[in-house]
Amino acid sequence: MRSKVTKAIFPVAGMGTRFLPATKSVPKEIMTLVDRPLVQYAVDEARAAGIKEFIFVTSRGKGALEDYFDSAPQLEQSLRKSGKKELLEILKSTNMGSGEVAYLRQHQPLGLGHAVWCARRLVGNEPFAVILPDDVITGKTPCLRQMVDAFEETQSNIVAAMEVPDDKTSSYGILDIQEHRGDLVLTKGMVEKPAPGTQPSNLAVIGRYILTPTVLEKLNRKHVGAGGEIQLTDAIDDARNAGEDVYGFRFEGQRYDCGSKAGFLQATVAFALEREDLRDDLRAFLHEILMSEEAVSKAAE
Ligand code: UTP
Repeated sequence: MRSKVTKAIFPVAGMGTRFLPATKSVPKEIMTLVDRPLVQYAVDEARAAGIKEFIFVTSRGKGALEDYFDSAPQLEQSLRKSGKKELLEILKSTNMGSGEVAYLRQHQPLGLGHAVWCARRLVGNEPFAVILPDDVITGKTPCLRQMVDAFEETQSNIVAAMEVPDDKTSSYGILDIQEHRGDLVLTKGMVEKPAPGTQPSNLAVIGRYILTPTVLEKLNRKHVGAGGEIQLTDAIDDARNAGEDVYGFRFEGQRYDCGSKAGFLQATVAFALEREDLRDDLRAFLHEILMSEEAVSKAAE
């Protein structure tokens, strides 16, 4: 029988040190691209892929995230009273239904693999998705939807993959490629953060995964890998060593690394330029500052 993917894990227990001091009190995943938090984009993408159960692996200080998905009766009441129907609808669309969301804690930041392992009992013995909200991916068909469609064919582990330049491979999990099959790439290995010059390819793992329960089983051994953390990549490669197929999936779409300041700023500008209510003013402003910057650097030559 063909399995369906209906559960997604959102590991959001990281410390977000690249955004300190902001992340001292604001979870990274609550930071907004224009007016929607990163985590909302992730949940919308999961819904569009047919996910029915949303499992958040959180940590101390992430209370704002749970509040965000809760209903806000007072706020709703006040919007209703003042006739702000559109805002009311926007607000309601962020509420999660009772029983479709679960929060559990990773008590120590032992790594992404460990965060996923924390959700093992809620996942049980079925394939599941993992979404990292700080990778924001835009495109005609949402990335996870593309992957779920591919999974319906392969019924095997699939990780989102994209080409990165040589000098960036040491920041990612990198695929060792056995064979290209259209958008899918059959792997013969995966290395987390390879030392510069040792990368088996330039195809990097991005924060979307569809995995089999074997990966959870492999995480049981709590192997400590690159950076002293329990790495998800290692467990996926262990599943491959145990005989399962692992595919990279070249998704269609633009990915923004919102876990980094540069990526977050790029996404902010790109998302704002997509918005009719903001586009013209922003474009004029960007034009103006770029022109004056150019003038200053010309004058300095
Ligand atoms: P990152 O490597 O981006 O780490 O984690 P981070 O802590 O979020 O951010 P920096 O590097 O300190 O700025 C990738 C994903 O894995 C989750 C993070 O929340 C993020 O979604 N993660 C990481 C956990 O849930 N637990 C961990 O122990 C580590």
